[in-house]
Amino acid sequence: MADLLLRFPQPAAVSRVRIGRGGLDRLGEFTRRTTGARRVALVSDARVGRLYGDRALRSLRRAGLAAALLTVPPGERSKRPERLVPLWELLGALGIRRGDAVVALGGGVVGDLAGFAAATWLRGVPWVCVPTSLLAQVDSGVGGKTAVDLATGKNLAGAFHQPAGVLVDPAVLATLPVRHRRAGLAEVIKLGMAVDARLFRWVERAVRRLAAGEPAALAEAVTRSIRAKARVVLADEREREGGSRTALNFGHTAGHAIETSLGYRGLLHGEAVALGMRVAGALSERQAGLSGAGRLRLESLLDVVGLPRRLPPIPVRRLLSAMESDKKRGLKGVRWVLTPRVGHASVPRLISGRIVRSALLEAGAAD
Ligand code: GLY
Repeated sequence: MADLLLRFPQPAAVSRVRIGRGGLDRLGEFTRRTTGARRVALVSDARVGRLYGDRALRSLRRAGLAAALLTVPPGERSKRPERLVPLWELLGALGIRRGDAVVALGGGVVGDLAGFAAATWLRGVPWVCVPTSLLAQVDSGVGGKTAVDLATGKNLAGAFHQPAGVLVDPAVLATLPVRHRRAGLAEVIKLGMAVDARLFRWVERAVRRLAAGEPAALAEAVTRSIRAKARVVLADEREREGGSRTALNFGHTAGHAIETSLGYRGLLHGEAVALGMRVAGALSERQAGLSGAGRLRLESLLDVVGLPRRLPPIPVRRLLSAMESDKKRGLKGVRWVLTPRVGHASVPRLISGRIVRSALLEAGAAD
């Protein structure tokens, strides 16, 4: 018998994040610089592709890159494994090779799908993320999580694959529908509540300007959020058991269960996370020592932004069973990220089913 221990050095990844108005017109030069590609598959959804696809293609071609645009239908339901097969076939037809790149131009759905296609195509090609929704600019565009949803749960098939570059152009937020703006603000509030009390206090001061879509306030929210998120993912890229990245799942235990139970229809991800934060806020007060005032600060921000207050009447049994299939479930059960105080999340912990059930019912789930 032979017993060999192979220690592979972790591949070091570098992700260059550039934030600036008008950056979209410099996508080509940025992609060349960060990936060294000659050929690029630009992936978008039909809506964003219509708005910004030509500008992105022009910039890529001006930089001497051969580029073609591939689009998927807008919405969470495009983040499905079935979408990957035609995408891979197109990457093949375009002749995307190891040194070439995928560019994701869109919100969280496009980033997750195109990023996962890049992670798996030829066992991994470089990719550039151009997040165009507020949610993707402040959260999902940075940190290298890519995935597709399954009927059993959200993001169950995926990979960590850091984008070589993240190009954030806050000017594109001007065309973002207001509902998507609100959904993005939910993730800004989450970052503040879970990891950055200063960010939370700043959101409290700026919330009315943010809710109204004032460009300077949104751009500042993007920069502050990316800095907060970068600190967390640099300390714990792979979301180790009990590591700091787990804090970013605040609101996601119930949020993902809501989305899965609804078959990824009806609510945007940020809206489901807002509801999940209301549940996690209630549990934090009951189980983690969050003060009533702290919980109220969270609830008030969600209210001023105009995020949903009550869960849709999903049977509580269905929500609990969706939580059981979530990938964040530990061996012993569902673990919750709670916030003992504003700006600080605790290590995920088990909460009894009885207590969770009553918090879900109180938040609007059906008995
Ligand atoms: N969106 C949570 C994370 O990137 O870890």
